[in-house]
Amino acid sequence: MNICVVGAGRIGLHVLTHLRRGRPGDSVAAVDLDQSKVEGLAARGWTASTSYPAGDAVDVWILCVSTGPELAWLFDAVSRIAPKPGALVTVESTIPVGTTRRIAAAFEQRGAKAGRDFHLVHAPHRVLFGAEEDPARIVRVIAGMTETCLDAGIRFYAGCGIPLHPVTRPEIAELSKIVENSIRYLEISFAETLSLACSEAGLDFDELREAVNTKTNVHLADVDYGIGGECLPKDLEFLQSWLQSPLLAEAEKADLRYREHMRRAARNFGKILLDGLTYKPGVRSLQGSRAVELGLELLRLGTEVYARDPLLTAEEIAALGFRPWREGQPVDGICRRGKWQAEERRDLR
Ligand SMILES: NC(=O)c1ccc[n+]([C@@H]2O[C@H](COP(=O)([O-])OP(=O)(O)OC[C@H]3O[C@@H](n4cnc5c(N)ncnc54)[C@H](O)[C@@H]3O)[C@@H](O)[C@H]2O)c1
Repeated sequence: MNICVVGAGRIGLHVLTHLRRGRPGDSVAAVDLDQSKVEGLAARGWTASTSYPAGDAVDVWILCVSTGPELAWLFDAVSRIAPKPGALVTVESTIPVGTTRRIAAAFEQRGAKAGRDFHLVHAPHRVLFGAEEDPARIVRVIAGMTETCLDAGIRFYAGCGIPLHPVTRPEIAELSKIVENSIRYLEISFAETLSLACSEAGLDFDELREAVNTKTNVHLADVDYGIGGECLPKDLEFLQSWLQSPLLAEAEKADLRYREHMRRAARNFGKILLDGLTYKPGVRSLQGSRAVELGLELLRLGTEVYARDPLLTAEEIAALGFRPWREGQPVDGICRRGKWQAEERRDLR
């Protein structure tokens, strides 16, 4: 079987790695418009190109492109794919409600009807980087444009050893992914609101959190520098465009208020240490990092900003414009994953 992964970013790379391990008999290639991504894959000995393969050379297309502005990248990818009769096109990117049908319509305009000429499914990728990365352990929601599409999708993913949860309509699969990320967003924004209230009332949020979480059926989330990364803010917007809920709008405002509080708290200090820079602990990515955003703003205000992160080198920290913090370096304020403290000690560990 010939498989082409479209978009070799974080998700595409994860898919490629699993396919190469899990389906050694298949030919797996990647296409990405970013030359540097293609060169990175080629350096590992993987087949990759900036040009799309001809339709008749591919049995399964896996779309992992970014779903940034107006889904332009996704529909650009769709416009470059010509599925051969019987081919499977599976969309693993996170997409707003109604997008699978829009993709089907785009193919149909070019004469390829899903369910008749080729198969189209949506199987949103669900890896939790830094926590659960093995696709064989993560149940995947999957929906087809038609029942035959779904059958073809199930055959493919089952052959990859991925446990499946089939649903009857693409809208359910689309929603399932953006709802799960929005739940996380709501939980964190609730925690942020409580944390601000605790700080005003002179109460320790961590102590409150510990106490609440002794109840087995509830989980009060922790706070960080604000809700960052690419996925949570974007997916909340995807859901909001469908749901138009005041609750989601308030959650966004709560996060903005929290980040504003972070900035105000920082003004008490002339020399600060940002302890932790990645967009979330345990994941080596700075994309959408609220810590970096905060640090850059403080630099503009003339604050001396030191930083450290167990996942980053001193050179990487310096490249962001911050001073790599060294043991013993005196600072007067520390923000440790969103929690400010005045600092007199110099022996941080
Ligand atoms: N990062 C995560 O933790 C995560 C988890 C689950 C789902 N997702 C979803 O998966 C999708 C991809 O996320 P990501 O983090 O891998 O994004 P990314 O930005 O790391 O990678 C996307 C890749 O797509 C490429 N691309 C864009 N347009 C293209 C086109 N027309 N043809 C070929 N390549 C193209 C880009 O060059 C880039 O390399 C998004 O919808 C995201 O929401 C991400």
